[in-house]
Amino acid sequence: MDHFTYKQGKYHAEDVAIEKIAGEIGTPFYCYSTATLTRHYNVFAQHFSDVAAKICYAVKANSNLGVLATLAKLGSGADVVSEGEIRLALAAGIKPADIVFSGVGKTANEMAFALEQDIFQFNIESEPELELLSRIAQSKGKKARIAVRVNPDVDPRTHAKISTGQKESKFGVAMAQAPQVYALAAKLPGIDVQGVSVHIGSQLTTLEPFQQAFARVRDFVLELRGRGYVINTLDLGGGLGIPYGQGEPPLPDAYAQVAKRETAGLGCTLIFEPGRMLVGNAGILVARVIYVKRGENRTFLIVDAAMNDLIRPTLYDAYHEIVPAKETSAAKEAVDVVGPVCETGDIFAEGRKMALPTADELMVFRSCGAYGAVMAGNYNARLLVPEVMVSGSEYAVVRPRQTYKELIARDNIPAWL
Ligand code: LLP
Repeated sequence: MDHFTYKQGKYHAEDVAIEKIAGEIGTPFYCYSTATLTRHYNVFAQHFSDVAAKICYAVKANSNLGVLATLAKLGSGADVVSEGEIRLALAAGIKPADIVFSGVGKTANEMAFALEQDIFQFNIESEPELELLSRIAQSKGKKARIAVRVNPDVDPRTHAKISTGQKESKFGVAMAQAPQVYALAAKLPGIDVQGVSVHIGSQLTTLEPFQQAFARVRDFVLELRGRGYVINTLDLGGGLGIPYGQGEPPLPDAYAQVAKRETAGLGCTLIFEPGRMLVGNAGILVARVIYVKRGENRTFLIVDAAMNDLIRPTLYDAYHEIVPAKETSAAKEAVDVVGPVCETGDIFAEGRKMALPTADELMVFRSCGAYGAVMAGNYNARLLVPEVMVSGSEYAVVRPRQTYKELIARDNIPAWL
């Protein structure tokens, strides 16, 4: 459920008309709904209120400070993958004790920074990483609390580019190798073993892969305890899919039941790293139609947003619902919705059935709150688009539009010129 809908024929984010924001700040722009974000967080959290659990929002999904501060206020922790994300999480008011650090390539500097902040847990993905972390912790007279991210070799049945829990993937440590990584961890002076972690992929639309992965991890926790390790935390990652307008993935309730059933009796504090599930449907991208181009056998809707603003359709063949900001009952026809970027792949939708808008009309791309603005770039020297956040009848620009001055100031011309 989200708070983007038509009111008196005009598309609204909560109580603010999209047309009003567009009139004031121009297009394209991202728009987030506080009420939707809040609802999603509370629904997710409520399902784990009866067990010891930490919800560590996966900052990579949307790292806007407005979004992070909203989640911080609700009690969320953070799952981070870089020093930049740690700094943003801290700036938004998330406590170090609620931060877990994931990722296969943490650098020495990033580890040092995270140790200085005394974050809750490092999720370790290889032996060399473990050794480096121990050395840095030791040099600071500290111990790093760690979990090893295991790779359970389960097919998450999602897009190949967002699958992480299979043997071929760079992520995690194979179950068969994991015991030796724990043995190493136990010997290293800068390391405190506290848990196990797993994350098998993103936008999962069935529960079975979660169930299989969690069951394997449960057995592994028991095996580790049998070998004398103290395992207190179990990080089950993120990955629960959201509805993009085609099919209904399992609800958080059903996901929570699987997670709780598979971990029952272990006595571990569960950690969850939901990203998309919290912010995906709490955001939209608004664009304006520049031209309607009637081709020989296709009709192109050329809008002012492009693949550099929202890469998901190009990169993952992702489906995003596209609706006009002005409600219409006009007959639908098949159109290709494309951006101005000079690449054939700059296509948001192909042969999509919709009422043909006219030039200057506003179009809304739904479910763009996750992996939208964060993945944007300046390709074709296009400016990064602004982000706004709505709460009731108010809205705030939480990131202004980049300016041409800023764009030009990024580079230096060498002195010899
Ligand atoms: N934890 C870890 C270790 C992760 O790698 C990820 C996502 C998450 C949690 C959060 O997963 P979520 O709950 O959002 O599914 N750009 C892609 C998605 C990449 C996901 C990367 N890792 C997309 O637009 O579909």
